[in-house]
Amino acid sequence: MTPARDLWSRVTDRVRRATRGRTAPPAIAALDIGTEYAKALVVSVERDAEGRLVGIVRGSGRQRQGLSHMQSGTVSDIDAVVVNCRAAMDEAREMAGRRPMAVVIGIAGELVKGGTSVSTVRRDDPRRPLDDPELERLVARAQDHALREAEERIRWESGVDRLDVRLVHAAIVEMRIDGYAVSNPIGFTGAQVELHLFNAFAPMVHLGALQSVATELDLELLGVIAEPYAVATCLDPGELGDAGAVFVDVGGGTTDVALVRGGGISGTKMLALGGRAFTKGLVERLGVSFADAERAKLTEAESRAEVADALLEDAHIWRDGIELMIAELAGDDLLPSRILLCGGGADLPQISAVLEEDGWWSSLPFARRPLVRALGADEVVGLRDATERLATRQDVTPLALAHQALILDAGASAVDRAMRGVVRDMGL
Ligand SMILES: Nc1ncnc2c1ncn2[C@@H]1O[C@H](COP(=O)(O)OP(=O)(O)OP(=O)(O)O)[C@@H](O)[C@H]1O
Ligand SMILES: [Mg+2]
Repeated sequence: MTPARDLWSRVTDRVRRATRGRTAPPAIAALDIGTEYAKALVVSVERDAEGRLVGIVRGSGRQRQGLSHMQSGTVSDIDAVVVNCRAAMDEAREMAGRRPMAVVIGIAGELVKGGTSVSTVRRDDPRRPLDDPELERLVARAQDHALREAEERIRWESGVDRLDVRLVHAAIVEMRIDGYAVSNPIGFTGAQVELHLFNAFAPMVHLGALQSVATELDLELLGVIAEPYAVATCLDPGELGDAGAVFVDVGGGTTDVALVRGGGISGTKMLALGGRAFTKGLVERLGVSFADAERAKLTEAESRAEVADALLEDAHIWRDGIELMIAELAGDDLLPSRILLCGGGADLPQISAVLEEDGWWSSLPFARRPLVRALGADEVVGLRDATERLATRQDVTPLALAHQALILDAGASAVDRAMRGVVRDMGL
């Protein structure tokens, strides 16, 4: 059994022991430590009539974070963040009426790097059927290379020379053997294996902070998931289609962009501008406090001209940043003509207004004007909301994390095992 499966079995065993005599199914938690809000969900893992795993959201909680607790999506005051996460988790736990044993935590922020790399490997013996150990070796080799690249980039961007960078999250996006696309390569023969791997890397210090939060909350850390990855994979594949989409999560401190093309994620980027920047813009222009500016933003974005004008001006600056990120993600290839929005900041009417304007997108490789649409909380696949409280765009990211938690449980395929084995070996 691989370490990840082993961990999951231990967790579910513990849950079962703790709930023996009662009928409640095992519960897991998802924690989204956002710059503006810590958000927690408690999800019970059940099976539907067809035997498929489904997550029923039994409880949700939210706690506002202080202005100095987070910086651009990463924890800057662990003690304060633990207090906030505990408040959010307690609220979710109370509502759910059950205690989760394990948690999946989202990781985001400036120095989290997500990207898809392609590696092609020639096999020594093309006639030998590919097996688990060989797949793990292939994946490990491809990731080693990606890790070195990420280390270089993060070092350069952070200016810190000896930074300990870790692989936090990996997934196989596409795989081909002698040009033939396969979803599970075990048992195939062939000379050349092509792997498209999505990897997310982060400095160890960020990961350590998340581990501390889980420990302080007395929860086993089931996994750390790159948030833009979770958002970009939260839709039903049928709904997403082959063309894919550009996902934009506008949070409080950051905006995450993820590009999904041809059914797989091709990269993620982060802009250190979110809803808070708009509030700060109003603080300056109106000469009011942060709290008053936030209130003006939430209630007067459409009704008061000087507020609307200021927000629109800042939204154009925000869009310039987004345009740059989409251009970098696109490279020379065509972009899907769909932009899907989530995150609390996406509720700002000026955000969709500037994306719907003409012109800005024509310098990007869109085939036509991109359709802009907000994601609904009910669109996240594999989950059902029993709380009836999850209705806003702010809820999409925590739900997307909960969806990943379910996949961690169901991930029994050879490919998933190989990935997870490698991620754990690399020190998470
Ligand atoms: N109705 C609304 N109109 C405009 N802005 C809103 C609305 N509701 C929430 N926001 C803004 O959304 C932001 C918070 O969104 P969200 O909870 O997604 O951020 P976060 O996940 O905490 O931050 P991050 O993802 O950057 O770490 C705040 O700036 C808030 O002002
Ligand atoms: Mg967020």
